[in-house]
Amino acid sequence: MRCHGMVTKFVGPGFAQVAERYQGDATAAARLREKIMQGSVGTWGNVIMPRQPQVSAAEASALADWVLAQTPGR
Ligand code: HEM
Repeated sequence: MRCHGMVTKFVGPGFAQVAERYQGDATAAARLREKIMQGSVGTWGNVIMPRQPQVSAAEASALADWVLAQTPGR
Protein backbone atom coordinates (compact mmCIF):
# COMPACT_ATOMS: atom_id res chain seq x y z
CA MET A 1 0.00 0.00 0.00
CA ARG A 2 3.01 2.31 -0.08
CA CYS A 3 2.84 1.99 -3.86
CA HIS A 4 -0.87 1.52 -4.60
CA GLY A 5 -3.86 3.52 -3.34
CA MET A 6 -7.27 1.84 -3.27
CA VAL A 7 -8.50 4.54 -5.63
CA THR A 8 -5.72 6.93 -6.57
CA LYS A 9 -2.37 6.30 -8.23
CA PHE A 10 0.67 6.55 -5.94
CA VAL A 11 3.76 4.90 -7.44
CA GLY A 12 1.49 2.35 -9.13
CA PRO A 13 -2.15 2.66 -10.24
CA GLY A 14 -5.02 2.77 -7.77
CA PHE A 15 -6.64 -0.67 -7.51
CA ALA A 16 -10.02 0.83 -8.54
CA GLN A 17 -8.28 2.17 -11.70
CA VAL A 18 -6.95 -1.33 -12.47
CA ALA A 19 -10.44 -2.80 -11.96
CA GLU A 20 -11.85 -0.19 -14.34
CA ARG A 21 -9.25 -0.89 -17.03
CA TYR A 22 -9.93 -4.64 -17.08
CA GLN A 23 -13.72 -4.56 -16.63
CA GLY A 24 -15.23 -7.43 -18.65
CA ASP A 25 -11.81 -8.85 -19.60
CA ALA A 26 -12.02 -12.55 -18.73
CA THR A 27 -8.27 -13.00 -19.26
CA ALA A 28 -7.23 -10.21 -16.87
CA ALA A 29 -7.05 -12.28 -13.65
CA ALA A 30 -4.49 -14.71 -15.10
CA ARG A 31 -2.38 -11.89 -16.57
CA LEU A 32 -2.46 -9.83 -13.36
CA ARG A 33 -1.50 -12.86 -11.30
CA GLU A 34 1.69 -13.18 -13.38
CA LYS A 35 2.39 -9.46 -13.17
CA ILE A 36 1.98 -9.48 -9.38
CA MET A 37 4.61 -12.22 -9.11
CA GLN A 38 6.94 -11.21 -11.95
CA GLY A 39 6.56 -7.41 -11.82
CA SER A 40 5.42 -5.13 -14.59
CA VAL A 41 6.35 -2.03 -16.57
CA GLY A 42 4.87 -0.07 -19.47
CA THR A 43 1.15 -0.58 -18.87
CA TRP A 44 0.63 2.49 -16.72
CA GLY A 45 3.88 4.32 -17.48
CA ASN A 46 7.61 3.70 -17.22
CA VAL A 47 7.79 3.22 -13.47
CA ILE A 48 8.64 -0.41 -12.74
CA MET A 49 6.62 -2.60 -10.43
CA PRO A 50 9.21 -4.90 -8.84
CA ARG A 51 8.83 -8.66 -8.67
CA GLN A 52 7.07 -9.85 -5.51
CA PRO A 53 8.99 -13.06 -4.75
CA GLN A 54 7.33 -13.36 -1.35
CA VAL A 55 3.92 -13.80 -2.99
CA SER A 56 2.94 -17.39 -3.87
CA ALA A 57 0.95 -18.26 -7.01
CA ALA A 58 -2.15 -18.91 -4.87
CA GLU A 59 -1.76 -15.56 -3.08
CA ALA A 60 -1.19 -13.79 -6.41
CA SER A 61 -4.44 -15.31 -7.73
CA ALA A 62 -6.32 -14.13 -4.65
CA LEU A 63 -4.76 -10.65 -4.94
CA ALA A 64 -5.60 -10.40 -8.66
CA ASP A 65 -9.23 -11.38 -7.97
CA TRP A 66 -9.37 -8.88 -5.09
CA VAL A 67 -7.99 -6.05 -7.25
CA LEU A 68 -10.47 -6.86 -10.06
CA ALA A 69 -13.34 -6.96 -7.54
CA GLN A 70 -12.77 -3.31 -6.59
CA THR A 71 -15.49 -0.84 -7.59
CA PRO A 72 -14.13 0.57 -10.89
CA GLY A 73 -12.96 4.20 -10.89
CA ARG A 74 -15.02 5.30 -7.85
C1 HEM B 1 1.82 -7.81 -3.59
C2 HEM B 1 1.88 -6.49 -3.77
C3 HEM B 1 1.38 -5.84 -5.06
C4 HEM B 1 0.25 -6.09 -5.79
C5 HEM B 1 -0.86 -7.08 -5.53
C6 HEM B 1 0.28 -5.19 -6.93
C7 HEM B 1 -0.66 -5.17 -7.95
C8 HEM B 1 -0.52 -4.46 -9.14
C9 HEM B 1 -1.41 -4.57 -10.28
C10 HEM B 1 -2.66 -5.46 -10.33
C11 HEM B 1 -0.93 -3.76 -11.26
C12 HEM B 1 -1.55 -3.49 -12.66
C13 HEM B 1 -0.80 -4.24 -13.71
C14 HEM B 1 -1.42 -4.02 -15.10
O1 HEM B 1 -2.38 -3.29 -15.26
O2 HEM B 1 -0.91 -4.57 -16.05
C15 HEM B 1 0.27 -3.14 -10.74
C16 HEM B 1 1.06 -2.25 -11.46
C17 HEM B 1 2.06 -1.53 -10.86
N1 HEM B 1 2.53 -1.65 -9.57
FE1 HEM B 1 1.97 -3.03 -8.24
N2 HEM B 1 1.40 -4.40 -6.86
C18 HEM B 1 2.08 -4.76 -5.72
C19 HEM B 1 3.26 -4.21 -5.25
C20 HEM B 1 3.84 -3.09 -5.80
C21 HEM B 1 4.95 -2.39 -5.20
C22 HEM B 1 5.64 -2.77 -3.90
C23 HEM B 1 5.22 -1.34 -6.03
C24 HEM B 1 6.25 -0.24 -5.90
C25 HEM B 1 7.48 -0.45 -5.49
C26 HEM B 1 4.28 -1.40 -7.15
C27 HEM B 1 4.25 -0.52 -8.20
C28 HEM B 1 3.51 -0.71 -9.36
C29 HEM B 1 3.70 0.04 -10.61
C30 HEM B 1 4.71 1.17 -10.82
C31 HEM B 1 2.79 -0.47 -11.54
C32 HEM B 1 2.62 -0.06 -13.04
C33 HEM B 1 3.44 -1.01 -13.89
C34 HEM B 1 3.12 -0.86 -15.39
O3 HEM B 1 2.97 0.27 -15.88
O4 HEM B 1 3.03 -1.89 -16.07
N3 HEM B 1 3.44 -2.48 -6.98
N4 HEM B 1 0.50 -3.58 -9.46
